[in-house]
Amino acid sequence: MFARIAGVGSYLPGLPVSNDELARRGVDTTDEWIVTRTGIRTRHLAEAGTTSSDMAFEASCRALESAGVKADELDLIIVATSTPDYIFPSTACLLQGKLGNVGAMAFDVQAVCSGFVYALNVADKYIRSGSHKKALVVGAEVFSRILDWKDRTTCVLFGDGAGAVVLEASETPGILATAAHADGSQNGILSVPGQVCGGQVTGDPFLRMDGQAVFKFAVRVLFDVAKECCDNAGLATSDVDWLIPHQANIRIIESTAKKLGIPMSNVVVTVDQHGNTSAASVPLALDAAIRDGRIQRGQKIMLEGVGGGFTWGAVLLQF
Ligand code: ACO
Repeated sequence: MFARIAGVGSYLPGLPVSNDELARRGVDTTDEWIVTRTGIRTRHLAEAGTTSSDMAFEASCRALESAGVKADELDLIIVATSTPDYIFPSTACLLQGKLGNVGAMAFDVQAVCSGFVYALNVADKYIRSGSHKKALVVGAEVFSRILDWKDRTTCVLFGDGAGAVVLEASETPGILATAAHADGSQNGILSVPGQVCGGQVTGDPFLRMDGQAVFKFAVRVLFDVAKECCDNAGLATSDVDWLIPHQANIRIIESTAKKLGIPMSNVVVTVDQHGNTSAASVPLALDAAIRDGRIQRGQKIMLEGVGGGFTWGAVLLQF
């Protein structure tokens, strides 16, 4: 029994916001600096009041429609997010309520930018075990809420959005292999080190990052975990038709693809349009490449995430 993708959907809030527009809004930056260092040209920023569960709902409706599945048929809902609507209930339960599903198991996965790949990994295990038949797996983020807009080294990098897949139990492949890891000793190079305590935010509620340390770490683990995932499936990296790595920075993506021997013509890139949408980046890119016809049924897709924790993981699937 395999967990097979039955449908995909995504949602981006509002209109694209260009690098020049960020500069006009007061960020001390230039389009030239951002494009050269990161490849990012635009990102989408949610309006005040739009939450992760709102965007997850829109992406999920599109995924359910493309799968031909009704919300009440779902028996598992997992939302990957680091920007939940509330401390509790989980964003997955809030999404479940908006979808009108009652009874599915619903919970959040918190693995920052690896969250969607972690969540797919978990859903795959439930479906393969035979305990669950139809899963909704979502990555949804409003990272704009945790950015320090006075810190130009981080605020230009991120955007908001959501992506979703419907997985079904199937005798046709399906997710072929997974791999996932974490190294908590690296928690300090990318974090939001704040808490809510006694009605106050204590510590720092904004994203802080050691960009160069993250860059080096990301390239190494994205290579290692893709190799490991191919080994787990008994395949070579040359068997991969499409690589969809976490969309943080074009230079990280290009370095990873080069090390894996995968040409950039076989890599899906959306970082230029979306920026880094954390747990939403991989399903947003997957949806874009399916809807524009690049990804075809039967092709082998490698999804990869890396993010704060540090966490990293990969899922190799046959679409
Ligand atoms: N606009 C203009 N100048 C800037 C900006 C900006 N937005 N940000 C920094 N600078 C300046 C710095 O102040 C510095 O100036 P100085 O030399 O006068 O002090 C100069 O640019 C170089 O700064 P560095 O931080 O050394 O720049 P670097 O080449 O390392 O690039 C970057 C920074 C783009 C963040 C890079 O380190 C990177 O891509 N790291 C990966 C991090 C990443 O992608 N994180 C995403 C989240 S992690 C994840 O998703 C896994």
